[in-house]
Amino acid sequence: MKAVLIQLLLVGLMLMMGGAVASDRVSLPKYPQPVGDQCVEPTDIMRREHMNFITHQRDETVYKGIRGIAARHSLKDCIDCHVGYDAQGRAVPINSEGQFCESCHNYTAVSIDCFGCHRTTPDEVSKVRQFTGKP
Ligand code: HEC
Ligand code: HEC
Ligand code: HEC
Repeated sequence: MKAVLIQLLLVGLMLMMGGAVASDRVSLPKYPQPVGDQCVEPTDIMRREHMNFITHQRDETVYKGIRGIAARHSLKDCIDCHVGYDAQGRAVPINSEGQFCESCHNYTAVSIDCFGCHRTTPDEVSKVRQFTGKP
C-alpha cells in the first residue's frame, strides 16, 4: 500500500513538473539550480530512476571497485553538481531544508539514510572544479 501511494505521488509529481500543469497555484519543491546543462542521464529518467542508478553504482563500487570517471552514477557527483551555496559561498548540506535531495523527498515523503555516512557537501578538492570550471 505504501509503495502504491509513493508511486501515485511520484506520477503526480512528474505530471506537475512536466511544466504544462505547473502554475502558481501548486507549490512545487524549490531547490538550487544544478551546475551544468545536463544531468548524468536525461532529466525525466533521473526523476524516476535516480534511486536505482545510485544503488546500482554503490554495488559496482563496493563489490567491483569501480570508482572515479568510470563511476557514472557516483553519489559524490550528485552532490558536486546539485549542492547549493550560501551568501558567503559556502556549500549548504544537500540534505538540509530547501536543498536538492531534501526538498523533493520532503515533498514526496521519502526519507533516506545515506547521509549518515556520505558527505552532504562537495569534497573541496574534488570534482567541483571539474564540473564548474571554477579555479
Ligand atoms: C553505514 C554507512 C553507509 C550508509 C548508511 C550508506 N553508505 Fe554508501 N557507501 C558506504 C561506504 C563505506 C562506501 C564505499 C566507499 C568506497 O569504497 O569508495 C559506499 C559507497 C557508495 C557508493 C559508491 C561511491 C560513490 O560515492 O559513488 C554509492 C553510490 C553509495 N554508497 C550510495 C549510497 C546510498 C544511495 C545510500 C542510502 C540509500 C548509502 N550509500 C548509504 C557507506 C554507507
Ligand atoms: C554534471 C552535473 C550533474 C551531475 C553529476 C548530476 N546531475 Fe542531476 N541534474 C543536473 C542538471 C543540470 C539537471 C537539470 C537538467 C534539466 O534542466 O533538464 C539535473 C536534474 C536532475 C534531476 C531532476 C530534477 C527535477 O527538477 O526534476 C534529478 C532527480 C537529478 N538530477 C538527480 C541526480 C543524481 C541522483 C545524481 C547523481 C547520480 C545527479 N543528478 C548527478 C546536473 C547534474
Ligand atoms: C525530483 C524529485 C527528487 C529529487 C530532486 C531527488 N529525489 Fe530521490 N526520490 C524521489 C522520489 C519520488 C523517491 C521515491 C520513489 C519510489 O519509492 O518509488 C525517491 C527515492 C530515493 C531513494 C530510495 C529511497 C528508498 O527508501 O527506497 C534514494 C536512495 C534517493 N531517492 C536518493 C536521492 C538523492 C541522493 C538525491 C539528491 C542527489 C535525490 N534522491 C533527489 C524524488 C527525488
